[in-house]
Amino acid sequence: MKEVVLGLLGLGNIGGGVWDLVRTFGGEVEKRTGLKLRIKKALVLDVKVHGGKEVPDEVLTTDRNDILEDPEIQIVCEFLGGEQPAASMMLRALENGKSVVTANKMALSLHFDELRAMAKKTGAGLYYEASVGGAIPIINAIQSPLIANHIEQMMGIVNGTTNYILTRMAAEGAEYEDVLKDAQRLGLAEPNPAADVEGFDAAYKLSIMGSLGFHSRVFVENVYREGITNVTAEDIAYGREMGYVLKLLAIGKDNGDSIEARVHPAFLPADHPLARVDGSLNAVYLYGHSFKDMMLEGRGAGDAPTASAIVGDIIQAATNAVHPMPYMREDALPVADDWQTRYFIRMKAKDAPGVLAEVAGMLAGEGISVSTMMQKGAAPGGKATLIFITHLAPEKAVRRVVKALNPEICQVENVIRVES
Ligand code: HSE
Repeated sequence: MKEVVLGLLGLGNIGGGVWDLVRTFGGEVEKRTGLKLRIKKALVLDVKVHGGKEVPDEVLTTDRNDILEDPEIQIVCEFLGGEQPAASMMLRALENGKSVVTANKMALSLHFDELRAMAKKTGAGLYYEASVGGAIPIINAIQSPLIANHIEQMMGIVNGTTNYILTRMAAEGAEYEDVLKDAQRLGLAEPNPAADVEGFDAAYKLSIMGSLGFHSRVFVENVYREGITNVTAEDIAYGREMGYVLKLLAIGKDNGDSIEARVHPAFLPADHPLARVDGSLNAVYLYGHSFKDMMLEGRGAGDAPTASAIVGDIIQAATNAVHPMPYMREDALPVADDWQTRYFIRMKAKDAPGVLAEVAGMLAGEGISVSTMMQKGAAPGGKATLIFITHLAPEKAVRRVVKALNPEICQVENVIRVES
């Protein structure tokens, strides 16, 4: 039996989940792996407050050096969240030759190169399965079992909070603000929900997943990002009528000479595998030239599911004779600022002769072809809702049309991308 000595940076929700899993299931893990996990120290802000877990006093510390500078601690698990001081602590641990296991997508995405360089220099391991998709083994899948593939596309529901909100909006016909308030009341959305609802969380995750999948750095600042705050019950209802389900997607594509990396709400055909991933569940749909298509689905957040991925990483960190280092191509691909997809354009327009022709003409002028059109609330001389779904069209061309449409004739209320 080999003992693995661990230091935890943070003992909140995730750290507490790891403490619990090691306490309740560590014996079984030991039988299966021959590794006895021992949490020697856990960094907390206040030793009297540590998430209500029954942790012996001698384990708790408020001094990071008790973990980062202790030669007995082999693996440092980081659960502080946020960019700093998490990133510098991980860097210090790696510098001291300790492997790092983290769930922190923000610090990882922003300091990926620096952390990998330090791990390479000292031979320590850097593991981050829990940073994307919680319990879903997507990071491992991309790097190991699926390595013999050119991954052409990844499309993920990687934020549980927004998936929960969109699922309820669809089920109840409710508006975004009302569902958000309820989710906050139930503790399912943060009091400051921006990281989730504005798409930042998903963008960090896409930056990590895309960098690994495409072997080319996808910096988070190059990820196009749009959250769910402008989505209305009306959009969801019309979309459904036309056979679509709305999701917040993190989309990555390798187009050969560039990468697409975008996070935004998108309609998916109701029979797409991601369309039925509801509530706070996460899922990542991948297309590789060899395996073709695949979807991994599961719990993307929560103490126990996240701890499952963390403990898996700890075992890998303790077992691997040589720690894996993701291959990054030297001729990094640029992240595209334009792409082709389909568009749902919802507008209010005067129900009068020539209006439809005017809009169709503007679209045609940019080479955009309409696939489906729906008119609602028609009353001669009054206002009608017009919905156009286009064929594949360049994003920039669609934006030009939307900007150029005469507001005296029609007012565009929302534009939502349509994926497949
Ligand atoms: N806030 C994230 C979510 C979980 O709602 O999915 C942590 O990544």
